[in-house]
Amino acid sequence: MSNTTENSSPALSNLLSEARSFPPSEEFAAQANATAALAREADERGEEFWADQARKMLSWHTPFTQTLDWSRAPVARWFADGTLNAAYNALDRHVKAGRGKRVAIHFEGEPGDTRTVTYDDLLTEVSRAANALQALGVQTGDRVIIYLPMLVESVVAMLACARIGAPHSVVFGGFSAEALRSRIEDAGARVIITADGGYRRGAPFALKPAVDEAIATLNPDNHPGISHVLVVQRTGQEVEWHDERDLWWHEAMESADIRHEPTFVEAEHPLFILYTSGTTGRPKGILHTTGGYLTQAAFTHWAVFDLKAETDVYWCTADIGWITGHSYVVYGPLINGATQVIYEGTPDTPHRGRWWEIVQKYKVSILYTAPTAIRTYMKWGEEVPDQFDLTSLRLLGSVGEPINPEAWMWYRRVIGGGSTPVVDTWWQTETGAIMISPLPGVTAAKPGSAQSPLPGIAVDVVDDDANSVPAGGGGYLVVSKPWPAMLRGIWGDLDRFKETYWSRFKNIYFAGDGAKRDDDGDIWLLGRVDDVMNVSGHRLSTTEIESSLVAHDAVAEAAVVGAADETTGQAVVAFVILRGEFAAAAQDDEGAAAIQEQLRTHVARQIGPIAKPRRILIVPELPKTRSGKIMRRLLRDVAENRTVGDATTLADSSVMALIKGKLG
Ligand code: WTA
Repeated sequence: MSNTTENSSPALSNLLSEARSFPPSEEFAAQANATAALAREADERGEEFWADQARKMLSWHTPFTQTLDWSRAPVARWFADGTLNAAYNALDRHVKAGRGKRVAIHFEGEPGDTRTVTYDDLLTEVSRAANALQALGVQTGDRVIIYLPMLVESVVAMLACARIGAPHSVVFGGFSAEALRSRIEDAGARVIITADGGYRRGAPFALKPAVDEAIATLNPDNHPGISHVLVVQRTGQEVEWHDERDLWWHEAMESADIRHEPTFVEAEHPLFILYTSGTTGRPKGILHTTGGYLTQAAFTHWAVFDLKAETDVYWCTADIGWITGHSYVVYGPLINGATQVIYEGTPDTPHRGRWWEIVQKYKVSILYTAPTAIRTYMKWGEEVPDQFDLTSLRLLGSVGEPINPEAWMWYRRVIGGGSTPVVDTWWQTETGAIMISPLPGVTAAKPGSAQSPLPGIAVDVVDDDANSVPAGGGGYLVVSKPWPAMLRGIWGDLDRFKETYWSRFKNIYFAGDGAKRDDDGDIWLLGRVDDVMNVSGHRLSTTEIESSLVAHDAVAEAAVVGAADETTGQAVVAFVILRGEFAAAAQDDEGAAAIQEQLRTHVARQIGPIAKPRRILIVPELPKTRSGKIMRRLLRDVAENRTVGDATTLADSSVMALIKGKLG
């Protein structure tokens, strides 16, 4: 278990002695969707519990008769003989049931423009977009790349793909042209939906140039080329135009029919591919299919957020470029007929109270966000949210990284008025939907702990030999039974799928997180046990950033670590060895500063601004074991200004002194 201990912070011991407990109020418990009986039912029904949910949450075009087929493990098949359509479930079903006039989306643009979109409106737009895609030759099974800011069109684009059975692959708008290119190639997509740009921090930013650059740099040996780019006009900025492939979204929509017959697909038909960082340099295309994914996304959205579709106003602040945006902005809420808020921009534009102003304006009742945002607001001071009426809030959620008890307490007290349940939800791109979380009407919440697996989910904390650890013990978090929203593979790489998640332990899923069980059996997440960092709730691969640095002429070798950071959870810190002439140029402070800045910009360009190292340290050597593996643990000690730990397994034990000496 050395890995897990390596990742543990000193704050952990305080964390585990957390004794505060917040049971739900009687009123909340009495009206809650998920009750203790539901958990008992799940235990009794086994996998049939999920069949019950699949029938309750979704409309099936052809009802299924099989629940789980695990004979091709680790690739699961859920509800495999049923057929359905995701967009039909998100839209048509509500319209047919007379709920078409309900607001689906309150859109708030960063500059202050707003749009109210009903389920009727959304169905019309998605139908038009589906017709437009088909007119461009997109067929069931073809992959479509979506590279957009947070707009209504982003939701429309995803659902239009789903409507025709074309798996979408959303690439976060903050990723670079290079990151976009590699995803286009890997997914083999021939159509891209993008925008001229969007608004962030009070100014327009451009997206289309990155698309043009990605297309221009496609490797013709790997990819047949892009046939069409649909461009949403958001900012009206100048764009370079390629007549043979570029089309305005609004023009394509105008000429498209408002009626569209959805394509009903098999439950195991791919719904989307979403790329996420792994432990190697190459991002993994996580594959999700239709029936099981939608069942768990909708069920968890109903149970964990206690959604009452007629009265709640729900707001999840995640971008659609991440899994949270897929499951809890698009599929879960819309399948459940929710009314939700979508906000385009940053929390401090034009002032630091923007989020709370939005909560007040739309009377948001359920808010789902990330610890990094909560900690940022803590830093800005409670007088900011105090200026707004937040009494509409009745439930708060957290996701993306462990939430420290102080942040949890602040969230509940300052944002939740001291009375709302707070649900800390653990899950991953790979799990597709929430796996571990308190049930807001049942569980007595403990600040900082995600607590227990949801009904129907089997997780465990195990040691190196796959034995469950006793209460009070720590180990690896695993999922011991298949679950409906589980990933069905890594796009085009079955071996990597098996190797990454299923080789560590036999037949159980290795999540890559360390965890502890406290004396009550509650689960505490401790962060990654592999070379994946978590910066502001975004996953970044140390190896990917190292490869990017080494690709720069100045760099001979690089090692990247995630150093603890009060606001962002972790921050990227890079140690680099420079090549001859660059090393010479970096001898003085000015020369070193210039190279450090060049390298930071280089990483931002290659991967995206979120991957930009906070600090770059120029060092003469890197600490390596005799087998040549970089000992990141020691570098993390340096980056976090700690006494350097045990260095006896280094090939050359004087290296650490050399590094520390150089950094002064
Ligand atoms: C971390 C985001 C502690 C974890 C939905 C996981 C968390 C990775 C929590 C997945 C939480 C997510 N407590 N850690 N509540 N939620 N994580 O794929 O390390 O972007 O493996 O999915 O985030 O990140 P991903």
